[in-house]
Amino acid sequence: MDKFLNDMGREKPTRFTDQQLRIATDNFSNLLGSGSYGSVYKGVFSNGTVVAVKVLNGSSDKKIEEQFKAEVGTIGRIHHFNLVRLYGFCFERNMIALVYEYMGNGSLDRYLVNDTNNLGYEKLHEIAVGTARGIAYLHEECQQRIVHYDIKPENILLDGNFNPKVADFGLAKLCNRENTHLTLTKGRGTPGYAAPELWIPNFPVTHKCDVYSFGVLLFKIIGRRRNTVEELAESEEWFPMLVWKKFDTGKLGELIIKCGIEQKSRDIAERMAKVALWCVQYRPEFRPVIGLVVKMLEGSVEIPEPMNPFQHMMGEIFIAHPVQESQTYTTTTLSGSIMVTDSNMLRSTPIMSKYEIEIAPATL
Ligand SMILES: Nc1ncnc2c1ncn2[C@@H]1O[C@H](COP(=O)(O)OP(=O)(O)OP(=O)(O)O)[C@@H](O)[C@H]1O
Ligand SMILES: [Mg+2]
Repeated sequence: MDKFLNDMGREKPTRFTDQQLRIATDNFSNLLGSGSYGSVYKGVFSNGTVVAVKVLNGSSDKKIEEQFKAEVGTIGRIHHFNLVRLYGFCFERNMIALVYEYMGNGSLDRYLVNDTNNLGYEKLHEIAVGTARGIAYLHEECQQRIVHYDIKPENILLDGNFNPKVADFGLAKLCNRENTHLTLTKGRGTPGYAAPELWIPNFPVTHKCDVYSFGVLLFKIIGRRRNTVEELAESEEWFPMLVWKKFDTGKLGELIIKCGIEQKSRDIAERMAKVALWCVQYRPEFRPVIGLVVKMLEGSVEIPEPMNPFQHMMGEIFIAHPVQESQTYTTTTLSGSIMVTDSNMLRSTPIMSKYEIEIAPATL
């Protein structure tokens, strides 16, 4: 334990025994929640440090120990204000666990479901910007890019001051290795938040899948009160589609009002809606990089007029599939004819090229 206290201030994640974790968590009596990788318990070490212990599903195996330690070592050295800190791990015959800093205000999902835990839109905007900064660090500043694969409100944790910290980064890699004995109860990503390419077999998946999930998160923030607002209560429409239709017909402002967003936050909400429409573009290469998302949300760069992210769902049904190993697409109808043309899908603006929002070539 003394070693842990020393290590806490250092870079390196500490190794714990299952006995130490059993004592700290009072025999795993305080369950914070469960997910696809295992269950999370609250714990306190003798020096008063409060932790969240995630006990991973699966059994340990000497063969995976070195690789597990190497990967945990990498995750444990990643420090950023908007990322949850990993203090250490346990790798024993009967237990594999990760020990994280404890986040006093829990996860963002509980602030998006109803009005009982009301966070104002300005705070929610700050949370969105902080979250994007955390993801940007993973994508753009780590020695080896880390794709999260599971950005969603449950993985955005809030500290005592409601500063957002992205949780569970690096876990997809840790738990998906072929030789691992850890089991996943579901595929990568979470329905609703996962980018379309995650559900298409053999489709190339890049960091842009996190941008898509972040866009869905923005829609959740904007639309969180809509079920309590009368005029929208009847609307069964998928909210992102509704946002697009309103934007396309110049009625985004009206929708924002109907979502119950207070006057002073309407500009911010409108900005968030436009960024969200960019983030959920069907084609990954149309989505902005997350660093640009940060700037657009902050208001430090102009937001280009979004293109229709749902073209593939309106009218004709499109199927996208990869061509060879490159990240290009052919887009066809179910009957096989090519539908993508310069005029209906591909339009570029000077701002898009300035900010490196890429447009795929017309002939793919
Ligand atoms: N460091 C932490 N501090 C406080 N609460 C936490 C912490 N980590 C997780 N939790 C809580 O425990 C819950 C379960 O976490 P867990 O990561 O197992 O599942 P999830 O985030 O819902 O799904 P996924 O497995 O896809 O990440 C979270 O939703 C969160 O409320
Ligand atoms: Mg989680």
